[in-house]
Amino acid sequence: MNEIVFKKVLCPNITMFKIKTPELVERAEAGQFVILRAYEESERIPMSIGGLDRENGLLTIVVMEVGKSSAEIVRMEVGEHFMDVVGPLGVPTHIEDFGGTCVVIGGGVGIPPIRPIAEALKDKGNKVVGIIGARSQDLLIFEEELGEICDDLIITTDDGSKGMKGFVTHALQKMIDDGENVKFVMAVGPVIMMKNIAKTTEPYGISTWVSLNPIMVDGTGMCGGCRVSVDGKSKFACVDGPDFDGHKVDFDELMQRQAMYKDQEKVAYDDYLHKCKIGLDRS
Ligand code: FES
Repeated sequence: MNEIVFKKVLCPNITMFKIKTPELVERAEAGQFVILRAYEESERIPMSIGGLDRENGLLTIVVMEVGKSSAEIVRMEVGEHFMDVVGPLGVPTHIEDFGGTCVVIGGGVGIPPIRPIAEALKDKGNKVVGIIGARSQDLLIFEEELGEICDDLIITTDDGSKGMKGFVTHALQKMIDDGENVKFVMAVGPVIMMKNIAKTTEPYGISTWVSLNPIMVDGTGMCGGCRVSVDGKSKFACVDGPDFDGHKVDFDELMQRQAMYKDQEKVAYDDYLHKCKIGLDRS
């Protein structure tokens, strides 16, 4: 259970794992997430579902090393077992035949989770266009995987090293300006990206959903750690989300809450890297 059967470094700092967890994979749906712990003493961290191989019972997760917990995970190897993988958690993405073009947008490690969503939208008969963005070509991930599913895949890079130069919002605005009949947008990625996508679609009244990634602890609606404000009301991303109407989310508050423990996170990460260096911890 929870054994790593495949590991691949996709680009500097971003690693993909396939984990054997058949019961979870059987029940999981696009848009949900899991909470996992590398070792007994590790922190519990939420992770989006990046792929579901139901035939083989494999869950795909994609991890970016940004702190102690993610650093521990990316150092795990094939054959090791996660202490626990809890899920599926959260409400699945609402999928229907939207009667027009659906655009799935991913940035950074938000790109893998849009793959199961794109698949589910295709299964319902929608035309699906993917837009993925990164700072530069060497940081782009899941291009092939999304290219296989989407009717069209648009790539943007900040530096113009691949695809359209600029941000995912520029590609979306161009689609709208070109007269594409966009009926539904789903975005997963950095909060600032999701905020700007919601801003782009709002004047056109295009249904726009975002997958929020606030700090989580228990993942059951008990601790309050993942509180977000949506339409002026408090919601818990772990049980009410993670998907919310992007036109109603208070993104600025979310950004403030995400930065709350930055100093403590940096201390823990530096300490972990130091221990790795002197051989007291995993390296
Ligand atoms: S993670 Fe505790 S309430 Fe959502």
